[in-house]
Amino acid sequence: MGSAALSLDQADKMVENVVGLFQVPLGLATNFLIDGREVLVPMATEEPSVIAAASNGARMAREGGGFFTSSSGPVMRAQIQAVGIDDPFGAKNRILEESDRIAEMANQKDPMLVKFGGGVVGVEVHVLDSRIGPMVVTHLLVDCRDAMGANAVNTMAEAVAPEIERITGGRVHLRIISNLADRRLARARAVFKAEAIGGTKTVQAVVAAAALAEVDPYRAATHNKGIMNGVTAVVLATGNDTRAVEAGAHSYAARSGLYRSLTRYEINGDGDLVGTIEIPAAVGLVGGATRVHPVAKAAVSTLGVKTADDLSRILAAVGLCQNFAALRALSTEGIQRGHMSLHARNVAVQAGATGDAIERVAARMAEEKRINLARASEIIREMTQG
Ligand code: MEV
Repeated sequence: MGSAALSLDQADKMVENVVGLFQVPLGLATNFLIDGREVLVPMATEEPSVIAAASNGARMAREGGGFFTSSSGPVMRAQIQAVGIDDPFGAKNRILEESDRIAEMANQKDPMLVKFGGGVVGVEVHVLDSRIGPMVVTHLLVDCRDAMGANAVNTMAEAVAPEIERITGGRVHLRIISNLADRRLARARAVFKAEAIGGTKTVQAVVAAAALAEVDPYRAATHNKGIMNGVTAVVLATGNDTRAVEAGAHSYAARSGLYRSLTRYEINGDGDLVGTIEIPAAVGLVGGATRVHPVAKAAVSTLGVKTADDLSRILAAVGLCQNFAALRALSTEGIQRGHMSLHARNVAVQAGATGDAIERVAARMAEEKRINLARASEIIREMTQG
């Protein structure tokens, strides 16, 4: 993969008021065995040690057969908010009585999607109490196939809104996708053999660390941030919408009313660690930047994915792997030694090291276990003074 593969011209067509390009390192995480297939995982991230940790976790998963994945299928929701309705529950039933016709109207807006096997697969109506009175919120459930789907579902929601007004007698305000993509779930599972990860003590320590994230939102936020270190890096590398996936993951984590971890860890009958994850993963392979950005195109081909669903299941595997690697490091030696030695190169650069000197300064600091800007500057001074 080349550098600066996106031209200014292309960027100018992607967003507005373009003045330049902002680059992020792109690396390849190795060792991933996903559903029996070797996968090289492109990750775009500014954070040191994320790619190394993912590769390390993936290596440890291999003895248990790697990652096994599944998904719920690529169904997104659009919401149509109607207010000012006298009989909200009556309106709800009237909408449901006409749901086939509403679905038909929505599908007419995207014949291509229907041709590829997608389109509306259901209509739900939620009656909600709010501080400005009751609301009737219609959800169009749309199989988006290989599109992320925001454009498709938003167009459909706008198209059926006048009909919702007619049926309910109310006023429609919002007509927009929900990023809580709870019908587009991706799952992954891995068995980390006790002997591959440091023995029974490590297995127990990971379970204990994960247990805190199941009951404490302060820990769950950081635990899930670690998962998203992996997920978001792949989402970005493939030109997908990082904010949509982040919003989906965090809102899904809070679906019980308490913000919780997105992963679970158990000990199986052999004493090995079983890790599982379930995350909403609203990503696409068609539309958006994925088909435009040259690096995103290369990332998709490196992953060898044919459908958005394939990509979503890889995201789940990477999220689980990243989380396992973090928990293992945190519950054993801590993350700072490994993290800081990788971070040492950044510190060396910040202190002014260039070329070969970067590695030399970083290695010296790592060896001395003194990784900070002041020490980096001293070493550079010593080196330049001879
Ligand atoms: C750092 O970017 C991510 C971690 O904090 C995740 C975690 O605590 O599980 C290491």
